[in-house]
Amino acid sequence: MIPFLLSDAGPGAAQPAVFRLLGPSPAMQQVRKRILQIANNHAPVTIYGESGSGKELAARDIHANSSRAAMPFIAVNCGAIPEALMEAEFFGYRRGAFTGAIHDRDGFFQAAQGGTLLLDEVADLPLAMQVKLLRVIQERSVRKLGATHEQPIDVRIISATHQNLALGVQQGHFRQDLYYRLNVIELQLPALRTRPEDILPLVESILQRLCSPGRKVRLSEAALAALTAYAFPGNVRELENMIERSLAFISGSVIEAADLNCAPASATPLPSPPAYATSAATTSNQPLVALPLSLPDYLQTIERELIERALRQCRFNRTRAAALLGISLRQLRYRMQRLACHDSE
Ligand SMILES: Nc1ncnc2c1ncn2[C@@H]1O[C@H](COP(=O)(O)OP(=O)(O)OP(=O)(O)O)[C@@H](O)[C@H]1O
Ligand SMILES: [Mg+2]
Repeated sequence: MIPFLLSDAGPGAAQPAVFRLLGPSPAMQQVRKRILQIANNHAPVTIYGESGSGKELAARDIHANSSRAAMPFIAVNCGAIPEALMEAEFFGYRRGAFTGAIHDRDGFFQAAQGGTLLLDEVADLPLAMQVKLLRVIQERSVRKLGATHEQPIDVRIISATHQNLALGVQQGHFRQDLYYRLNVIELQLPALRTRPEDILPLVESILQRLCSPGRKVRLSEAALAALTAYAFPGNVRELENMIERSLAFISGSVIEAADLNCAPASATPLPSPPAYATSAATTSNQPLVALPLSLPDYLQTIERELIERALRQCRFNRTRAAALLGISLRQLRYRMQRLACHDSE
């Protein structure tokens, strides 16, 4: 995506403001204004918003408009890292710290030194890890696993979640002390359905990105009306997926309402994984030679297909998709990352 420039640079900023978060709605203008206000403050920020509403993009915009812009921006999906590896991943380790640690390795904190660390899906941090993180944030220093010395750390922490962290605190899933440390500044990303005037500019930007030069595609009036009436539980990511899917099917240069497929989720029930695997292997019209040759490749394909199907069926709500698949949210995220499933067709 091409970042767009605003002439109203933030207070004291030498450079014009740079934003990837698009949208002319008053709500998005307010978000961008707030990003400029908080960009050069060192205080931790927590970004709230529904799935696909632009939380990661907002974190990147905060970083890009801060004095840390030339330093690293590291985004970590706290829900996708297996719990046993978390400490090593966050803090790094010294050679010999555990079996298999054959080299010294930096963790996310060292990698983000001087820059910004985004703790995405922060509500998914296990309680034991929350304690360790709190310590690092308070002390502003990190000790690698197996090391005897602490290293000073200068990293701005941004957290993001689609959950209600305060409720997590009340329910005992999230430590109150960490909540207060992280939630110093709040930024709320509005849901796409609350700002319909952003839909057309977003679609135009998506089309510009996806269409090859020379291919001009536009939305019909009815298509725009259908999008405006749609609830977008998956927000901008869902809109991107819809447009990408429709581009694959249309032959002309106009996307019609029927091409968008923005009706309620299909009522077709998702088969249980074993039944799906069996039917795919025995009753498919595809000849067997069309399957990948190795069993691991074949199983991965089925796993990816089933995960993506569940995500689509649940309108990209990962919590519901995980329940449908009979796995935990953490397992779903881990598998999505391993299989490079992006919530897309
Ligand atoms: N305001 C916006 N302008 C342009 N693109 C946007 C905007 N909001 C979201 N997007 C795009 O939508 C997709 C989802 O955005 P992002 O990953 O930032 O959302 P998220 O809130 O972090 O989602 P999740 O909760 O699933 O992690 C990305 O491809 C992003 O580029
Ligand atoms: Mg995100």
